[in-house]
Amino acid sequence: MADTATPNVIRRADYAPPAFLIDTVALEFDLVPDRTVVRNTMHVRRNPDASRALHLELMGEQLEFVSAEIDGQPFPNAHAHDHGLLLDNVPDSFELTLTSICNPAANTTLSGLYVSSGNFFTQCEAEGFRRITYFLDRPDVMATFTVTLRASKADYPVLLSNGNLLEEGDLPDGRHFARWEDPFRKPSYLFALVAGKLVALEERVKSGSGKEKLLQVWVEPHDLDKTRHAMDSLINSIRWDEQRFGLELDLDRFMIVAVSDFNMGAMENKGLNIFNTKYVLANPETATDTDFANIEAVVGHEYFHNWTGNRVTCRDWFQLSLKEGLTVFRDQEFSADMAGGATDEAARATKRIEDVRVLRQMQFAEDAGPMAHPVRPESYVEINNFYTMTVYEKGSEVVRMYQTLFGRDGFRKGMDLYFKRHDGQAVTCDDFRHALADANGRDLAQFERWYSQAGTPRVSVRTRYDAAQQRYSVTLRQGYGDVAPAARETQKGPLLIPFAIGLIGNDGRDLPLQLEGEAKAPAATTRVLEFTQTEQTFTFVNVAQEPLPSLLRNFSAPVIVEYDYSADQLAFLLAHDSDPFNRWEAGQRLATRELLTLAERAATGAALQLDDSVVAAFARVLTDETLSPSFRELALMLPSEAYLAEQMGESNPAAVHAARQFVRKRLANALKNDWLKVYEQHRTPGAYEATPEAAGHRALKNLALSYLAELDDPAEAVRIASAQYDAANNMTDRAAALSALLNAAAAKGGSTEAQQALDDFYQRFEKEPLVIDKWFALQATQRGSAQRPVIDIVRRLMSHPAFNLKNPNRARSLIFSFCAANPAQFHADDGSGYAFWADQVIALDAINPQVAARLARSLELWRRFTPTLRDGMRAALEKVAAHVKSRDVREIVEKALA
Ligand code: TRP
Ligand code: ZN
Repeated sequence: MADTATPNVIRRADYAPPAFLIDTVALEFDLVPDRTVVRNTMHVRRNPDASRALHLELMGEQLEFVSAEIDGQPFPNAHAHDHGLLLDNVPDSFELTLTSICNPAANTTLSGLYVSSGNFFTQCEAEGFRRITYFLDRPDVMATFTVTLRASKADYPVLLSNGNLLEEGDLPDGRHFARWEDPFRKPSYLFALVAGKLVALEERVKSGSGKEKLLQVWVEPHDLDKTRHAMDSLINSIRWDEQRFGLELDLDRFMIVAVSDFNMGAMENKGLNIFNTKYVLANPETATDTDFANIEAVVGHEYFHNWTGNRVTCRDWFQLSLKEGLTVFRDQEFSADMAGGATDEAARATKRIEDVRVLRQMQFAEDAGPMAHPVRPESYVEINNFYTMTVYEKGSEVVRMYQTLFGRDGFRKGMDLYFKRHDGQAVTCDDFRHALADANGRDLAQFERWYSQAGTPRVSVRTRYDAAQQRYSVTLRQGYGDVAPAARETQKGPLLIPFAIGLIGNDGRDLPLQLEGEAKAPAATTRVLEFTQTEQTFTFVNVAQEPLPSLLRNFSAPVIVEYDYSADQLAFLLAHDSDPFNRWEAGQRLATRELLTLAERAATGAALQLDDSVVAAFARVLTDETLSPSFRELALMLPSEAYLAEQMGESNPAAVHAARQFVRKRLANALKNDWLKVYEQHRTPGAYEATPEAAGHRALKNLALSYLAELDDPAEAVRIASAQYDAANNMTDRAAALSALLNAAAAKGGSTEAQQALDDFYQRFEKEPLVIDKWFALQATQRGSAQRPVIDIVRRLMSHPAFNLKNPNRARSLIFSFCAANPAQFHADDGSGYAFWADQVIALDAINPQVAARLARSLELWRRFTPTLRDGMRAALEKVAAHVKSRDVREIVEKALA
């Protein structure tokens, strides 16, 4: 029977410093898949800054306790239990040696020490180290680590751990060893080891101060031809952190290792980053342009953690955004700089738009449901459930706001002070804020609310033009609207919102921005207003004509802006705004409004129609050769079904799908010749090039293809897509062609062209797991039809020989793709999707609770759906709640049902 007691809640307010500290750790591993012996020798002492405890309580999970010694003598008062080891009456300062055994081969959780494809890997964040040895497994206990690895030389020729290699050599019986030392103190969550049959791409580079560094990207031998891009990304990351932040690589060697069984994207273990293969392996035949960009971003992200996360770490897990929000901000800036340098605003905007899309679609949704939490949460049941969009993406927006307020130079001064004060420490989000405030001579007390208030703020805007006085006033009002109960409890008062604004004249040009009381207008035509009160009016003077406001330029704060633009005004902004982000935003607003109206009509079965002016606005973007291809692609992509459903009073995925498909078809048919022309113009014949420009052409061309596949008569599109599929010399074009073939065939329940391409794709890439993941995902996210619902295809694929629930990438490619990225099919009104979801959450729970909990989240917004769907969702949630065992999934479903 399931345990129904409320699981333990961990609260931020209960933080207390550790009773003991651990200064040094010497680990010895005898690596055997089903029986690894770990000997752990630590220097332990009482923490002078904590209240005195008699007993030492170490954490430990899934360990077989063997022995404990203190200062070389057997220690009889050690009591092992399910969650750790209790040592009674210990001295003030001592050497503790513990021996225990774990079973990596049986570890399907992928947390702690585990085996993947016959090799050993570790994953310790957040609380995995306790599955390797008994320890004070919390981030404010920092020690220096020495690691000795022993294993069969034939089976595990490569033995890696953090830091520098001290020694390696042979042992009797075909075994060998390696000894590693990490000179920097670190918390246990940054420990890592890797052992197995791996090969590396190597480079030697000189860091800023002239020291030589050895860089390695370790993979299985057959993947060596897919490591160049990761290596280039690493080298670029190292340079970028030196140039932008003056931060140098502090080790002689930096290693990246790829593993195909991995719970998340990658992990920043000191000097030994471990990556999901998805974020390392790429060549043009196997990886799309998006994959290439993601690899650059994730390699950067993990590398940047070396300073923001490792050198300065978190005091406790409530401070997770201290490292994650900051590091996401840094990787976003890195990608923007790589694409557009510091000055190419249009190229930078492409990255910004992509990031804001993710934030709005995923984080805003999180903020609207039962998992809503502040950037710095107040409580959790399972910390793995708090590696969230809010902590990462909203956390990044919070960091970005410091830069928006203080400028790049002010932000840099704050970062410098942060490292000066806190290098080598485990600190809090308050420490970061204080460094930024002090370096810029500012009081940021009010800004703290960004860390403690959940929910998405709304800013409503009223404007008034006084022609006689030539005054233009902008009144901003902030609040949270009708937020989720989980968010409501956290709200205390108004936020400091950096609100960037521009005013646009009749000719489409920016007007000067002179605020009341100022002698003259500044040169810049975008101003960041510091909006701190519930309601505040900013008055611009010498405004010669009634302007059109461009609000929240470059998305200067993670808020929803409410302003009643007319359709004509939005079309004007789409054509003229000098802020490329807001130009895109105007198109999205126009489309969103139109789509929501259509969705409400579709929900009642009414006929749909689209105004010609909307088609005309899109036609102008499509044919405007002065706009970059990547911008056009983003502007012509309609808001996602998930985002639109979220905006409805009651989410109705079927109605949203009908509305969005109607508009796509209308745009396809009305602009057919333009799409064909754009398709031709943006082909990239010849050798594949990985540049942002070439990727922009491919993106726009493939968007055109996807619209053409919507034509009432798709025969021509099918011909084009088939030809593109056959001729493709890169995965971007091949996958886009396959997707177009699948969708063009959906209405008639499939086609031979689509089936042939699917079969060819499988055979061609059978030996490339990451490409087979795409094969599953493309099928799971395809459009369905009444005669062929996608659930049937997904169920059939579950028994395909290549499907494997234990591999997270594979589970995500089929199950998550269907449950989270195909809303119209997942939310089928017979409830079949929900029943499938429940079965899979329950099955995954027994294998890998972290992955199961992620899948569990796809029903958390059930209360916001149309009533006819709610019962099926609740029943599925209740079924899961009654069957699952893990703390991870229980927290999610119990919060959803509460
Ligand atoms: N710290 C990692 C990052 O953001 C993410 C991470 C946290 C992780 N826990 C994990 C990765 C567990 C893999 C498994 O870079
Ligand atoms: Zn991170």
